[in-house]
Amino acid sequence: MDAFEDFKAAQRTRWVHFAPLQSITTPAAARLVKHARIQRGMRVLDVACGTGVVAITAARLGASVTGLDLTPELLAAARDNARTAGLDVEWHEGDVEQLPFEAATFDTVVSQFGHMFAPRPEVAIGEMLRVLKPGGTIAFSTWPPELFTGRMFALVGRYAPPPPPGVPTPLLWGDSTIIGERLGGAVRDITFDRATMVVPALSIPHYRQVSERTSGMMVPLVESLATNDPARLGALRAEFDALVSEYFEGNVVRQGYLMTRATKIE
Ligand SMILES: C[S@@+](CC[C@H](N)C(=O)[O-])C[C@H]1O[C@@H](n2cnc3c(N)ncnc32)[C@H](O)[C@@H]1O
Repeated sequence: MDAFEDFKAAQRTRWVHFAPLQSITTPAAARLVKHARIQRGMRVLDVACGTGVVAITAARLGASVTGLDLTPELLAAARDNARTAGLDVEWHEGDVEQLPFEAATFDTVVSQFGHMFAPRPEVAIGEMLRVLKPGGTIAFSTWPPELFTGRMFALVGRYAPPPPPGVPTPLLWGDSTIIGERLGGAVRDITFDRATMVVPALSIPHYRQVSERTSGMMVPLVESLATNDPARLGALRAEFDALVSEYFEGNVVRQGYLMTRATKIE
């Protein structure tokens, strides 16, 4: 139990520097909102909302939106984003494994590259389905293990300390068979779609530099290796650059991902 709480406390500090990456998750947010079929008047929950890109896109359509995230610094940016857009969104600091909402509250529950980082997938999805109304829609975007970001997470994972026992890789959320098993009998009409995030980069080292300064997967690892094992950091950087080179062309890196949608059974 404590190991899971410690893991989440570490997640809360990991993602503190993520805000600049909202420029690349913003176009994807519009795709997820469309995939989830969000419409005016719906009650929507955006889980692990970060700076609120999905929540605010849904609110712009006229949905009544709540965003929840573990990281207070990102929620501060989300509040600022909502103010700038002139929209009302309800923001909560909280944990997807323990949602502070009544059962059957929302018409739609979404998560963009978010709930996949909770340590216990069955607890996270159980909570997301609990707060969803029967007949409501659950939809999320995740990284498949075989595409660039999944391969990059696996590479970084080889250099990082292992997660506590019982915490599976978040990349299993990118496997359609496992998604089907995890949603189980609670839903019907599971539908998948694929999309690509096109990330501008002036060079491969530019792309790596942004990742090292912003990504929750990279920031703590690079900090620790820089202090304790610079040679190993050099090896990580060489492998990272070689992987990026497979996806870097025309000043962009292509990051393919998976979108899932399902309906909670009545
Ligand atoms: C890759 S960011 C995605 C943020 C945002 N959804 C977007 O698309 O820009 C991952 C987010 O998951 C949040 N997170 C990680 N574990 C969480 C948990 N157990 N409960 C709620 N949020 C969590 C982090 O704080 C971070 O904001």
